[in-house]
Formats: sequence, C-alpha cells, structure tokens
Amino acid sequence: MNKLIAPSILAADFANLQRDIEMINESQADWFHIDIMDGVFVPNISFGMPVLEAINRHAGKVIDVHLMIVDPDRYIDTFANLGADILTVHYEACTHLHRTLQAIKAAGMRAGVALNPHTNVNLLEDVINDIDLVCVMSVNPGFGGQKFIENTYKKVKQLRELIADNNANTQIEIDGGVTSSNAKALVDAGADVLVAGSFVFKATNPTETIQNLKEIANQ
Ligand code: DX5
Ligand code: ZN
Repeated sequence: MNKLIAPSILAADFANLQRDIEMINESQADWFHIDIMDGVFVPNISFGMPVLEAINRHAGKVIDVHLMIVDPDRYIDTFANLGADILTVHYEACTHLHRTLQAIKAAGMRAGVALNPHTNVNLLEDVINDIDLVCVMSVNPGFGGQKFIENTYKKVKQLRELIADNNANTQIEIDGGVTSSNAKALVDAGADVLVAGSFVFKATNPTETIQNLKEIANQ
C-alpha cells in the first residue's frame, strides 16, 4: 500500500509561506499537515484561521488539520469552510468523542483522533470504526523539533491489531520527530502516514528530503 508523507507547515518559513507551499505542491509529498495550537491545550500558540485560509488558496494537496485546542466542536464548521479535508481532534480534549467524530463527518471531512504519548490506544476500541485516521503523537504536542519517543513503535503495533480485530478502515499517522532514520521502522510497525516538520524544512534540500522519506517509507 502507498505510504504517505505529510510535511508539517509549522516548520516552514512563514515569511516565505507561498514559496514553501509551492515546494510541497511540486514535491512527492502527499498531504499538507497543519498544526493549530491554542495556548491552552498545549503550551504554545501556532497560527489560526487567516493563515489557514491563505494556505488553502495555494495548497494543491490534501489538507490535514491537527487541532491542538480545547473544545474543538466549536470550530468544526469553520475548518470545513477553510478547506480542511481531514480534521483531527485530540482524544484528551473531547468529552463526547463519538459525537465530535459524527459532527466532523457531517461537515464533509474525514475524522481523525490524535493520542498524546501517555494515552493508551485501546481507549479507542469503542469508536475505532468511526475513525478515519489515528494520529499517534510521537512527541508531546506543542512544538516542532522534539525528540522521537521510542514507545511509539509499541503503540503503533497495538493500534494496528486493534484496527484489524475490528475490521476498521483506519489510517495510522505518526507525528513528531520523524526522520529518515525511524521512517522504515514506523512503517514496518504499521504506520500509513508520516508527518515530518523540521526534518523536511531544516534540510538543505527539502524536496529531496521528501523524496527520500517517500522512498524509505515505500521500500
Ligand atoms: C507537534 C506537531 C507536529 C510537529 C512535527 O505538536 O503536532 O506536527 O509540527 O514537527 P517535527 O517533525 O519537527 O517533530
Ligand atoms: Zn501535528
């Protein structure tokens, strides 16, 4: 199966955002990964609606929005109108996760759930058939450029089993600290989508780095 690469715009040069978006458009990347942080759910504020609106005007690929915000239900329709194709909410931020997932789908988007490093994958058992994408956080959310947490491999394997046991059609995304050194092991553990921020944008040649990740993930 085709393994996907999703560069994270958080690590882009915001003074040259259009240039970096065009780079992704022309690269072998599959999705745009967009991190929205509210300074409450996570100890950082990234960017909000006007920036996403601008990204959407230039992005020619799937827009994968990762909400690190409290009370995400308030903004589901807003993100649908801003062009999100996939909307991922945090398990830890949703009191009524099942309801939230239905609302995301009703708004015409694919529904994702992100898990913090401490959150057990089996907590998703009763909603796994309602989830299009599980985003396994391999760092504590809030910042790019952090060190990959090794326990992620175990979680991905457990999640792969949970998905198979329930005949679910759910993709597994890994977010945080992804590089060419761990990409193959993550895919072997069961990952479908690899998010990469600093590894792509801090590289001397981001286009080649994306191509390299794509090749490693699909070996
Ligand atoms: C972390 C974000 C990630 C981040 C990944 O809170 O959700 O998407 O941008 O950045 P790197 O690849 O630099 O860890
Ligand atoms: Zn993210």
